[in-house]
Amino acid sequence: MTRPHATLPRTVVLVSGNGSNLQAMIDAARAGELAVRFVGVLSDRPGVLALERAARAGLATEAVDFAACAGRNAFDDGIARTLERWHPDLVALAGFMRILPAGMVARYAGRMLNVHPSLLPSYPGLHTFRRALEAGEAWHGSTVHFVTPELDAGPAVLQYRVPVGPEDTEDSLRRRVQQGEYLIYPRALHWLATGRLAHRDGRVWLDGVALDAPIQVQEGARPPP
Ligand code: GRF
Repeated sequence: MTRPHATLPRTVVLVSGNGSNLQAMIDAARAGELAVRFVGVLSDRPGVLALERAARAGLATEAVDFAACAGRNAFDDGIARTLERWHPDLVALAGFMRILPAGMVARYAGRMLNVHPSLLPSYPGLHTFRRALEAGEAWHGSTVHFVTPELDAGPAVLQYRVPVGPEDTEDSLRRRVQQGEYLIYPRALHWLATGRLAHRDGRVWLDGVALDAPIQVQEGARPPP
């Protein structure tokens, strides 16, 4: 049975740029595959495509311009104020390129997800495609994980795995990996929104079962329902 829209978990998406993951979430929600109510999209940069995508979908938007803020505290306060106003149940970081203060992460513990373009714990941080290619990895991919104060280190939920071929470039790998993100991120968020997914006692639980490892989806396959 589908719940009335007004009763779905209030969800804020944090973005910095392109917003293709945000778009995948919007599309999944429209298709009835993601049971959230988007209450706002927040960017650390004004004028980005992600905000345009949000506005086009009729969502509330806000930019807290990092470059225009008088220091880190002013920026963090701006983010906190916006989140307070929207009082989300869930927060999804989707290409958001800033590290949130530990207090804010703690406040949304178990309710904040991120997608990172590597098979974590390998390659936290930036330039993951280049680093994986340079290292001659046979596999690369993307991970949806709960956010904890340490960068890209929270417990992983779902991973999309892509075999790296000799013809792969940073661009080709990015394209293939991102196609996977559009499948795994809305799905993990849906699990969280419907109470099937939890981060408790330092472990990830799905449907009441503690995961020993993230659920893995290979290129070309779809995540479990
Ligand atoms: C994604 O590849 C995600 O893994 C990383 O940043 C990228 C954001 O892309 N965190 P988009 O803004 O969702 O298009």
